[in-house]
Amino acid sequence: EQLSPFDIVLFGGTGDLSLRKLLPALYRRHRAGQLPEDGRIIATARTPMSREAFLDRVHDSYRERLDADELNETEWRRFAERLAFVPVDATDSHSYAQLAEALAGRDGRCRVFYLAVAPGLFVDICRNLQANDLVTPRSRVVLEKPLGHDLASARAISEQIGAIFPEEAIYRIDHYLGKETVQNLIALRFGNTLFEPLWRREWVRDVQISVAEQVGVAGRAGFYDRTGALRDMVQNHLLQLLCIIAMEPPTSIEADAVRDEKLKVLRALTRLEGRSALQNTVRGQYRAGAIGGQPVPGYLDEDGVDEDSRTETFVAIKAEIANWRWSGVPFYLRTGKRLQERNAEIVVNFREVPHSIFDVTYGTGLPNKLVIQLQPDEGLRLHLMAKARGDQMRLRPAALDLDFAETFKQRQADAYERLLMDVLRGRLTLFMRRDELYAAWEWIEPILEAWNQAADAPKPYTAGTWGPAASSALLGREGASWHEEA
Ligand code: BG6
Repeated sequence: EQLSPFDIVLFGGTGDLSLRKLLPALYRRHRAGQLPEDGRIIATARTPMSREAFLDRVHDSYRERLDADELNETEWRRFAERLAFVPVDATDSHSYAQLAEALAGRDGRCRVFYLAVAPGLFVDICRNLQANDLVTPRSRVVLEKPLGHDLASARAISEQIGAIFPEEAIYRIDHYLGKETVQNLIALRFGNTLFEPLWRREWVRDVQISVAEQVGVAGRAGFYDRTGALRDMVQNHLLQLLCIIAMEPPTSIEADAVRDEKLKVLRALTRLEGRSALQNTVRGQYRAGAIGGQPVPGYLDEDGVDEDSRTETFVAIKAEIANWRWSGVPFYLRTGKRLQERNAEIVVNFREVPHSIFDVTYGTGLPNKLVIQLQPDEGLRLHLMAKARGDQMRLRPAALDLDFAETFKQRQADAYERLLMDVLRGRLTLFMRRDELYAAWEWIEPILEAWNQAADAPKPYTAGTWGPAASSALLGREGASWHEEA
């Protein structure tokens, strides 16, 4: 499918996200031959610099990040022809004149404003774009998280931007939805008959969604200390994963068909507030420890973190979805910094057999589970019981394994490549709608309030472990355990 010509205006064009993710993603799609000849990228930033200096900076960062065979010099020069740099002071309407000049006579083209800047600037930028007549009928705006700090700020941002761009021109990015395995989960559920009949309370005992990181907060402590894991990861990424797992089959893959179903899940989440919030959540904060054999400082000793900060760097939650399909099935969510491994996975634990006819089985935990691995590798693993070799009837666990890298040999696009292409193609399915955003905040907010009023601080955990012991206990009290502890 050939894209129509476009202009991407990248606010925060020299920032970390642009250099690390967005510009490499665009280069890779260029190399794959997916960008039309006259697709242009105009980077903007407050500090003026020449086009040459900007190109040098991009080239340097490519040399650091891309493989040598990816960064072919001829291709780079061809790609660089697409790039321009224009200084813009986001908050000063007069400083948009040069941008207006760069876009003059191009009103009929697809125009994308990508706001890779602090959300405090979103509204100013949109207003200044409008004041300078830069918002055309074919314009789209891409917003990076965090989309607000709470429900009120999320509403304020959305309403102000909604006064300038229609909802169908707003692309709220959650890069987890661009991950290959997340889309594979949609394929797994709705491209097969096998799982759907079992995908419900009668057969599923619990679901675990776990995103463990080894990195700490160094480098962005100022932001993180005001934010915490619940806002940074759960409000968006984990809840989006939960929606994809739990939603009813949509009638089509069209944006609103999928988003309607996701919204129903968010609205059906049992509200956790006051005591029930404290009973069903665990907050943690890392102390000094070691990651991969290297000592790392504790959270409170990171530069930029308040010395008596109560910000959580770990959270575990027992969530429930009050509807016919899922009533009574715990959805355990967990995420944290400085954990033992970098690992993101979704585990669907099926119930035990109703009656066992075997005397001897080896292995603990539930016999059947489906593990959907997002990171570091991508794959699906279905755990079964099988007969062990030998002349006796003994059972042991075995697994069916689908390794995506091995099965599908071609290089796989990363989340930002896919999502950027979706923006250019006008496909909204993998972006959050405004009502989803609100519904997610509505569920998160009472938990934050309960924590704020609680007397206790987050529970300490040693860097390089799986978080505070209370996280295991949250499952243990129901006779369950986290996948890696089973
Ligand atoms: C971001 C969070 O949204 O996601 C970061 O702000 C986190 O704190 C990151 O590290 C994780 O993304 P990924 O793709 O590396 O799992």
